[in-house]
Amino acid sequence: MTASAPAPAFAAEAGRLFSLSGRTAFVSGASSGIGLHVARLFARAGAAVALAARRADRVEAAAAALRAQGHRACAVALDVTRTDTIAPAFDAAEQAFGAPVDLLFNNAGITLVRRFVDQTDDDIDRVFDTNTKGAMRVAREAARRMSKIRRGSIINVASTTALRAGGFMAAYSASKAAVVQFGAVLALELAGRGIRVNTLVPGNIATEMQDAFVHAGFTEEMVRRTPQRRIGDVDELDGAVLLLASDAGRYMTGAVLTVDGGQTLAWM
Ligand code: NAI
Repeated sequence: MTASAPAPAFAAEAGRLFSLSGRTAFVSGASSGIGLHVARLFARAGAAVALAARRADRVEAAAAALRAQGHRACAVALDVTRTDTIAPAFDAAEQAFGAPVDLLFNNAGITLVRRFVDQTDDDIDRVFDTNTKGAMRVAREAARRMSKIRRGSIINVASTTALRAGGFMAAYSASKAAVVQFGAVLALELAGRGIRVNTLVPGNIATEMQDAFVHAGFTEEMVRRTPQRRIGDVDELDGAVLLLASDAGRYMTGAVLTVDGGQTLAWM
């Protein structure tokens, strides 16, 4: 054996550190992109995972595929703009797994790329209703339930646009800045109950949402403004997400964690 002999032991230790075994996870907006990817990641890490989307039939295939691989997964119907769908979605997840939700990936979101002067009341309402109020509604339901069991991890998904200005995204950026701030307050209120609340701040990640920027012709400029000079792949969020989700991050609450190829530090 060479000097690398301890590697298997370390791999086992790292596996234990980041394990989600015994956790019951709820992922909003799990029908595509980051949400679907993270639902699969959580399942591989050992969690039972509820994939929540507006049309449960669309996530049922993903949940069935996970079950076929030996994981515990279910699909539940959730529209974050409708409060009346939220408690039933958590109830359905908890009934499916016979355990309370103790991990939330609060991810559902929509984007809008439009010059501010052309954004209508309806545009602004739609973006805030999903990204800010929707995230708050889902976090509130999770927080109420986690408070009863006095443990849990909530990961809210913001965006680099919450921290830096980018043109044509006034409503979106403001809606995500609000996510950062309500997460901070929630972290403060829930720390004493054993619940951690952290904010993931992805940079440009290749998903359907990026298509809006591609169509707007912004991609080249966004890459130029990113020190690593590329768009990120969805699996490049895995380390940060698992850190926030698992006991590896047990002393982390109120963190705002960027995974953005350096985008937020660059000024030109
Ligand atoms: P996506 O468009 O593939 O995923 C968004 C998901 O949210 C979809 O599954 C959609 O059906 C769901 N959703 C939208 N409205 C909903 C509602 N009312 N109720 C329930 N589900 C709803 O895009 P992506 O990229 O996966 O986005 C996921 C999150 O990551 C969003 O919050 C987005 O703002 C954020 N984000 C994405 C970045 C990127 O570059 N892709 C960068 C920074 C943040």
